[in-house]
Amino acid sequence: MKKLTWILILVFVASLLWWGFAISQEKPKVVAKSTASEKADTTKAKEHAYVGVGKCGCHKMKTWGNILEKWAATKHAGAYTRLAGEKAKAVAKDLKIENPQKSDKCLVCHVTGHEASAKLKGEKYSVEEGVTCEACHGPAGDYLKSHSKKDNAKQAAADGLMKPAEEGCVKCHNEKSPTYKEFKFKEAIKLVEHHKPTKEELEKAKKAEGK
Ligand code: HEC
Ligand code: HEC
Ligand code: HEC
Repeated sequence: MKKLTWILILVFVASLLWWGFAISQEKPKVVAKSTASEKADTTKAKEHAYVGVGKCGCHKMKTWGNILEKWAATKHAGAYTRLAGEKAKAVAKDLKIENPQKSDKCLVCHVTGHEASAKLKGEKYSVEEGVTCEACHGPAGDYLKSHSKKDNAKQAAADGLMKPAEEGCVKCHNEKSPTYKEFKFKEAIKLVEHHKPTKEELEKAKKAEGK
């Protein structure tokens, strides 16, 4: 009787081992499958997360030409708020849209990254901020770290930092806008332009302040 129990246990253990072996043999197939799908995925552009204007705070410094302040003074910063105004309501009414601040048909151009999935919107992302830095410079979730290092320009680009240009502007400044005014890039850029001041410009600004 004792012997039989041992034999049964042995058979059981042996079959377990065999089962384990069989599964381990199957693994390569599974691995092969997943690498194939990963390969397919790399052909898609990498997605980067939106982090919100607060994370671009370094650029409020004078040495950066007060870029943050300058942006805040443009219409882009109020693009979402504007959707609650009388004119927006009138435009929306004609199109039978009840609330422009809730309609994809308006938000697609009046906030940043509207079409990005929710998982790509960081904690600090807010529609209230309107058309932000990231609408023109690309979602900053990944390049936030790499873009501040000069020797890392390539990495920053791979991480999603874009060079803003007319092609980017006309994704929103086009005839699909119900209030479309002809977009003249050369004139428009002057109204939203910002740059890092040169040494001379900084000197000039200092003198103007009487320092
Ligand atoms: C994500 C969409 C989007 C992008 C990208 C965008 N804009 Fe705009 N822009 C808007 C919206 C929306 C308004 C209107 C905001 C408002 O009036 O509340 C606006 C307003 C403006 C205005 C003010 C227009 C006026 O009538 O006073 C200028 C100038 C302008 N944009 C220039 C640019 C330039 C130049 C670029 C590219 C470098 C650009 N925009 C990229 C959406 C965008
Ligand atoms: C294709 C992009 C786009 C869409 C979609 C869009 N807008 Fe705009 N909107 C703009 C741009 C760009 C401007 C600024 C320049 C202009 O009017 O052409 C603007 C300006 C405005 C203005 C200010 C116009 C002024 O003269 O002061 C209002 C109000 C407005 N939009 C409301 C809406 C409403 C409401 C919707 C949804 C029904 C909407 N927009 C959809 C891009 C868009
Ligand atoms: C409407 C589009 C738009 C928005 C919004 C925008 N920028 Fe820019 N930004 C530009 C353009 C265009 C340039 C000039 C690019 C060039 O010359 O290559 C630029 C240049 C810059 C530069 C480089 C300056 C230099 O001289 O080296 C920095 C930094 C920058 N932007 C930061 C910001 C920050 C921070 C915000 C938000 C607070 C912001 N931008 C919002 C379009 C935009």
